Amino acid sequence: MSACLNQIVFLLSIVLMIIKIAATDVCDICSCFEYEIDTYVISCKSYKNHVLEIDFEEIEWPPNENQSHMKAFFNNFPVNLLPKISGDSNVISINFDDNNIRTIASSPFEHFNNLEEISLANNRIADLTKDFLKSQTNLRLLNLSNNTLSAIDPNIIAHLNELREINLSHNFLTKITADFLEATEHVEVIRLENNKLYVIDNAFDKINYSLRELFLAHNHFTVITSAMFEKLTNLEVIDLSDNKILNIDNEAFTKLTALKLLDLSFNSIKRITIKLPNSLQLLSINNNNLNSWPLLNVPENLTELEIQDNSLDYLFPTDKNVPSLIRLDASTNLLHQLPEAQFINLEFLNLGFNLLKAVPHNINEKAPFLKELILDGNEISDIEFTEATTLVSISLCNLTSLHKINAYALQNLSGKNLTFDQLETCVAVKIAYNENLVEIEPDAFYGVRFCDLDLSYNSLQTIPQNLTNWEMIENGVNLQGNPLLCSCEQEWILEDIMKTLYDNEDHQELLLELRCENPEELKGKRLVQFLKHDDPFCKGTYESEPVLQSGIGRFLPNLLPISEDSSQTGKKIEFHLTPWTPGFIIIVTLCTIILILIIIVGVKWQRDQNLKLARRNRLYYDDY
Ligand SMILES: *[C@@H]1O[C@H](CO)[C@@H](O)[C@H](O)[C@H]1NC(C)=O
Ligand SMILES: *[C@@H]1O[C@H](CO)[C@@H](O)[C@H](O)[C@H]1NC(C)=O
Ligand SMILES: *[C@@H]1O[C@H](CO)[C@@H](O)[C@H](O)[C@H]1NC(C)=O
Ligand SMILES: *[C@@H]1O[C@H](CO)[C@@H](O)[C@H](O)[C@H]1NC(C)=O
Ligand SMILES: *[C@@H]1O[C@H](CO)[C@@H](O)[C@H](O)[C@H]1NC(C)=O
Ligand SMILES: *[C@@H]1O[C@H](CO)[C@@H](O)[C@H](O)[C@H]1NC(C)=O
Ligand SMILES: *[C@@H]1O[C@H](CO)[C@@H](O)[C@H](O)[C@H]1NC(C)=O
Ligand SMILES: *[C@@H]1O[C@H](CO)[C@@H](O)[C@H](O)[C@H]1NC(C)=O
Ligand SMILES: *[C@@H]1O[C@H](CO)[C@@H](O)[C@H](O)[C@H]1NC(C)=O
Ligand SMILES: *[C@@H]1O[C@H](CO)[C@@H](O)[C@H](O)[C@H]1NC(C)=O
Repeated sequence: MSACLNQIVFLLSIVLMIIKIAATDVCDICSCFEYEIDTYVISCKSYKNHVLEIDFEEIEWPPNENQSHMKAFFNNFPVNLLPKISGDSNVISINFDDNNIRTIASSPFEHFNNLEEISLANNRIADLTKDFLKSQTNLRLLNLSNNTLSAIDPNIIAHLNELREINLSHNFLTKITADFLEATEHVEVIRLENNKLYVIDNAFDKINYSLRELFLAHNHFTVITSAMFEKLTNLEVIDLSDNKILNIDNEAFTKLTALKLLDLSFNSIKRITIKLPNSLQLLSINNNNLNSWPLLNVPENLTELEIQDNSLDYLFPTDKNVPSLIRLDASTNLLHQLPEAQFINLEFLNLGFNLLKAVPHNINEKAPFLKELILDGNEISDIEFTEATTLVSISLCNLTSLHKINAYALQNLSGKNLTFDQLETCVAVKIAYNENLVEIEPDAFYGVRFCDLDLSYNSLQTIPQNLTNWEMIENGVNLQGNPLLCSCEQEWILEDIMKTLYDNEDHQELLLELRCENPEELKGKRLVQFLKHDDPFCKGTYESEPVLQSGIGRFLPNLLPISEDSSQTGKKIEFHLTPWTPGFIIIVTLCTIILILIIIVGVKWQRDQNLKLARRNRLYYDDY
């Protein structure tokens, strides 16, 4: 049966492969449809098993009584030559992406006189003929991305006064010449990422360059001189990420008074001191080798600084005030402390993976509006807030020196977010992945109102019952991944924490990796299995038969009766079964039936079935 099917499929594909269509009306071969009011799309795409053949020189464009605009796509044709195409003045966009074009005929688009977009991306064009764009006075966008161009003759584009965007990414260009810049004086966006560029020539004087965005990522720049961008004074975005930059002239960007975004990330910069225009809003200089502070000034409008993954041991050494900064990522450096400056508007601060030995002092004095503080991966051995500190959230993860959280550790910490009843504020605290954290003193969280408490993946065996008022933590408690001791003293966790989590579907996923480590006979078991037992740990009732037999054996081992957030439809329900128990057989049988249903009902089935499964699991669970 299936062999037979295979043969049919095979024969069909052969038949399709040898289909050769050479009709002239393009809509006989391709799909033509109205895309928007007044815009008609003609889409001609070949597929592996269905290779179209079109005589581009003889294309008959569809009759177009309303003079609608047409956008034409011819993709995946195995053509080496782009010939002179028969044209139509209503075509405003033509796309020859993903063909195999190496050679371009003389003036291929001569018969079109209203083209606004030409795209020839993903071909193998190494040379452009001089008259390639001769009659294209309306051209706004040119996409030559992913070809094999090693130079562009400026004369090809110099006459295109309407050209606004060029995509030359993924080619082999090595230089941006002054002639090229002159020829593109009206262009606003030039994409040149993934070339082999290492130099930009001095642009000519007395030209009003319109260039606003210049993308130069993944090239071969090693030095940025002050002449490179000097005349391009309308630049707003420069992306120089992923080059090999070692040095930058102090004045390289100074004249760019419209510059908003500068990306220097993923280079090899060790030591620079650059002056930046006050207009700059975002500076990314992360993932370099900086070992000294790179900025001569802090731009007035700088709102975001990414300086993570360097080797800095201080930040803002000479600045008393950093008024505009809202987000600062200085993680993975060699910092020992919070910088001395005033961060009037700072909301996000990541100081993770530095060399801090304690929670920084006077956080709110330095950054009164700070919301989110990340101190992960530091050398903090003692969590202590030495004065009143107000935050939305704090993260204290991957602290290998942290063994214990002492009494009143968070006493001075309060929140900025409102509780559901809007009467109090609460704070989100994450103290997770601290592999040596074995103890939290009972009074450690005294005085804190949590919105969220994440204590997952520490090395806690026991949790003090009166650590906090568990039921008041509105967004749930995460205790997963700790080596919990399932003893009588810890039985309260079932009642005080797990019931609440279980009753809130949004929090059920927090039960998934909540497992006993000890005693030995319970090792690896999910705590959720014991939820409906009567004093399971104190009376040992987990060893007796379940109170209600549901015909599926003792409690289904490892069955987790939860659906992860069923409000997000389409999500899978996770549960685990040990093979060859009666429950397993039942489930397998049901699955087989369901599989047959899949074939009948099709794709729409998935959603309904997820809901059904969730309900059924709940039933089984509640039965024993
Ligand atoms: C031309 O426009 C008229 C009115 O807007 C419409 O009824 C007609 O279907 C259009 N013809 C074509 C070929 O799109
Ligand atoms: C470039 O085009 C080739 C096919 O011509 C394709 O396989 C490759 O993925 C493209 N690369 C990019 C970056 O688009
Ligand atoms: C090239 O640009 C055109 C026009 O914006 C676009 O339709 C096409 O998807 C682009 N091609 C690639 C590979 O980005
Ligand atoms: C430019 O080309 C690159 C690579 O093909 C593509 O990822 C990008 O989307 C293109 N951009 C535009 C605006 O067409
Ligand atoms: C330069 O061009 C911009 C925008 O194209 C225009 O606003 C500005 O007035 C021009 N400046 C000069 C000196 O021509
Ligand atoms: C800083 O931003 C403000 C508000 O966006 C703007 O008015 C001002 O011109 C900018 N300053 C500079 C130097 O660009
Ligand atoms: C809380 O802050 C006060 C000063 O505001 C300080 O005296 C006290 O020691 C702090 N408490 C803790 C537990 O650090
Ligand atoms: C934090 O610790 C966890 C567990 O040890 C580890 O998987 C993770 O990679 C660590 N994070 C970082 C950024 O080192
Ligand atoms: C705090 O409140 C903001 C705004 O309502 C919300 O987006 C954010 O998720 C809350 N944060 C926490 C930790 O609850
Ligand atoms: C918590 O319980 C311990 C002993 O179980 C007790 O010493 C401590 O005073 C209690 N703390 C609070 C805040 O109730």
